[in-house]
Amino acid sequence: MLTQDFEKLLDIGIALSGVRELDELLDKILCEAQLLTNADSGSIYLVNGDKLVFKTSRSNTYFKRWGEAKTREIFRSFEMPITKDSIAGYVALTAKALNIPDVGNLPSDSEFHYNSAIDKKYGYETVSMLVLPMLNRDRKIIGVLQLINSTSGDSVVPFTEAHQKITSSFSSQAAVSIQNAELTDDLKNAHLDTIFKLSAAAEFRDKETANHIKRVSHYAKLIAQKLGYSKEEAELLFWAVPMHDIGKLGIPDSILQKPGILTPEERKVMEQHCVIGAVVLKDSDAEVLKKSRIVALTHHEKFDGTGYPQGLKSKAIPIEGRIVAIVDVFDALSSKRCYKEPFPEEKVISILEESRGKHFDPDILDVFLMNMNEANKIRGSHQDTDADFDKYIGLKNIDLNELLK
Ligand code: C2E
Ligand code: SIN
Ligand code: SIN
Ligand code: FE
Ligand code: FE
Repeated sequence: MLTQDFEKLLDIGIALSGVRELDELLDKILCEAQLLTNADSGSIYLVNGDKLVFKTSRSNTYFKRWGEAKTREIFRSFEMPITKDSIAGYVALTAKALNIPDVGNLPSDSEFHYNSAIDKKYGYETVSMLVLPMLNRDRKIIGVLQLINSTSGDSVVPFTEAHQKITSSFSSQAAVSIQNAELTDDLKNAHLDTIFKLSAAAEFRDKETANHIKRVSHYAKLIAQKLGYSKEEAELLFWAVPMHDIGKLGIPDSILQKPGILTPEERKVMEQHCVIGAVVLKDSDAEVLKKSRIVALTHHEKFDGTGYPQGLKSKAIPIEGRIVAIVDVFDALSSKRCYKEPFPEEKVISILEESRGKHFDPDILDVFLMNMNEANKIRGSHQDTDADFDKYIGLKNIDLNELLK
């Protein structure tokens, strides 16, 4: 390989190693591979157990025809078995690179076959293909890089020997970056799952459901997005919100699960859930826990200063608290609780509107009310079922052997 090529690969390698998000990384790998080979299109598949998962594709032709967003919409993730029935499957199975000058012209006794169904459906003509196994440091195959239609001027040409060489080195380098990103993804997922699991554990004693915390998190993220938060800030809030009521763990069942209205003394105890939550969550440097501490402490403050536990007023209430106040009440009103049935939507909206500037920050409330359609969609996808309310009934139907797996 030319020194120039080595330098190019080194540069790309350094750029790749900085990308932590898997999807972003895959897209960048594909984009670089396309540039290295003048490929019109390409896809990446990752190996998952005995399946090959289509992860991402790029196509100059389709991007020009439909735009990038629509193309991605059309070519969504799908799985296929790792068999010789597809070219990518063949490469995953044999770990051999294929450089095919013309897929329409394969010998009849060829070990691999090109399935032209997708081409036919979308009016694309695949001619030349360069398909490479992505091997990790242990020479284990983790994915397949598939490049389609190398171009020269206006015509499609076969991929060259040089293309194959440089992308082979590149794909192994990319494999290492992918594995690192998957590891980071895995750790992140473990952390985030733990947040939902522990929050659900707190709700287990309550008659509220795990769906409540999911809905409230999604509503809060919706508002954050509409307020113009960055993607990262909105995500952070999303993961901080499930813990808002974690302090209910410290409230006696006799109060927490009381079917009727609370007496003033019982209410006083109940109101401690904000403080208990904040104390449980304090002393962590993790951004998400800091945020959740603030949410736990301030989600029952009211804009006019009549809330608890501190009676903070207007913008002295952290914005996270002002957001969660709205979505927590919205969810309480629109769902069944041990002390109430769900209210119809008109009643929910009128209660919120009456509380504008009193309980709720008027500007944030307006943003939420303007996006009721999306809020209702969220509600629809995280609905409570009867079994959610009697968790002990739910337990009867659980297959313990399933839990052993
Ligand atoms: P939650 O059930 O998640 O309710 C959150 C907030 O939604 C309530 O905060 C309140 O501001 C609002 N909300 C709930 N139901 C209604 C309603 O019917 N009408 C109106 N206008 N607002 C409503 P709040 O009052 O500080 O209560 C905090 C938590 O204390 C509640 O969380 C719930 O777990 C408990 N709680 C409150 N009231 C009662 C009650 O009467 N009986 C029982 N068993 N628990 C209660
Ligand atoms: C998520 O979106 O990853 C949180 C869980 C859920 O809302 O279903
Ligand atoms: C803020 O006050 O912190 C941001 C603006 C708002 O509350 O809507
Ligand atoms: Fe609360
Ligand atoms: Fe709540």
